[in-house]
Amino acid sequence: MAAINFDKVLKDIKPPETERKKVKALSDKLIQLINEITAEKDLNGEAVLVGSVAKGTWLAGKADVDLFIKFPLSMDEALLKESGLYIGHRCIEVMQGSSEERYASHPYVTGFINGYEIDFVPCYSIKDSSQLKSAVDRTILHTEYIKKNLSAEQADEVLLLKRFMESVGTYGSEFKVGGFSGYLCELLVLQYGSFQKVLEAARGEWKPGYTIDLEKYGTSKLFNEPLVAVDPVDKKRNVAAALTLQKMAEFVVASGNFLKSPSKNYFYPRELKFDLNSIKDEFKNRGTKTFLLTFKSPDIPEDAVYPQIRKTEKSIVKVAEMRGFRVLGSDSWVSPDGKVFTLIEFETWKLPALKKHSGPFVWYQDHQERFLEKHADKAWIDGDRWVVEVPREYRDVESFFSGVLTKREINLLKFGKHIKSELLRKHEITEIVEFLESNDLETAGASENLKSKGKLQDVLKHLYAYLNRSELLWR
Ligand code: CTP
Ligand code: MG
Repeated sequence: MAAINFDKVLKDIKPPETERKKVKALSDKLIQLINEITAEKDLNGEAVLVGSVAKGTWLAGKADVDLFIKFPLSMDEALLKESGLYIGHRCIEVMQGSSEERYASHPYVTGFINGYEIDFVPCYSIKDSSQLKSAVDRTILHTEYIKKNLSAEQADEVLLLKRFMESVGTYGSEFKVGGFSGYLCELLVLQYGSFQKVLEAARGEWKPGYTIDLEKYGTSKLFNEPLVAVDPVDKKRNVAAALTLQKMAEFVVASGNFLKSPSKNYFYPRELKFDLNSIKDEFKNRGTKTFLLTFKSPDIPEDAVYPQIRKTEKSIVKVAEMRGFRVLGSDSWVSPDGKVFTLIEFETWKLPALKKHSGPFVWYQDHQERFLEKHADKAWIDGDRWVVEVPREYRDVESFFSGVLTKREINLLKFGKHIKSELLRKHEITEIVEFLESNDLETAGASENLKSKGKLQDVLKHLYAYLNRSELLWR
């Protein structure tokens, strides 16, 4: 395929000189400040700029400055954490920013300074991955590898790839997305040479188990994730470990769509048009019944919540299906104000009073006796097997929910460990049309649930995405 010209797009997504200068000045200043604080406290640490700002692969307007503070390997881990937090907080204080503590493999501080988001992360200073003590220790090695191997032209290709990934919804290695990390995008460009070639390879060659091994370590057998990208700085790590089969498939399809009819629109967010009434009508017209389960999100980092709510969702679906209800689809998300929403759409939501229950074969005497003791004269023989009609415990989804989400029954479900107590403490279950009607700001006014337009918009956005699951993959 002929090469496509991306100059116009690059003009929009590449940080202009003024932004580069500003970011450089800010990070230089912070590095100096960290080193001063460290020296003052005799801490033997040193600031290193890492991440996309250090690599020159950040998208215009999206500079998050990743600053690592590296300490000698001999330093005690508790002291390392404590020092990292201290230095971060002190730095943010001097710069008059605001701060927030977060957690990766250990706690770190994020500061909001002059409109930029700055991460202060303590780590060990290592020469190679054999010395690795914590997961973040690799980051400095990643930064060095990319700075050494990625040319300025290739950095532009990375920007195109990241931006494409963002707008088709596959960028980000956090659990919420399960997509491609920035570092993985960089490795893909190193592997294939350009944005377009990455897409061509994805569309043409990728299948589950596909391997990229830039340094030819030959260790891909260690991994069983859908895509394997052996880390050039650590042969025992798959850089694509967080990528789900779903997002890999979506990227392959989006790549094919783009290559079939390339358009600059792929680099800009798709304008999604939806409103409460059209979403309500669509749910009504489907003839299914959809419920929203809502409860407060536990007080743990968002990245830790997502696997837990997905697990809970899958478990509710499974138990509902075991009880005879048929589920068409489900989804979960956390709203910006910290509420978990789990949507379950039912194909069958009402069931008869009884169900047929199969018993033992007539050929086995003792099994039969036990069965007949219990069911006595109600059982009959179907073929060579005893069967009996038994009453159903839950005849509709509402009673299923209210039964199964109580203390007595809740152990049927598998949860993320922080979810159960929140669910038991308080939750709401609302049928979707009722939910939308009671939150319709036009008719119901300010309602109990979503008093603000912003909160309602966020729910509508997710409902729309649920109803249009491949919308982002084409333009
Ligand atoms: N990192 C990693 N694996 C992840 C996330 C992060 O190895 N799943 C490391 C990478 O070395 C990455 C650095 O942490 O470069 C900073 O992470 P992040 O800010 O998420 O990525 P960037 O490369 O900075 O990309 P961007 O900020 O543009 O999204
Ligand atoms: Mg970053």
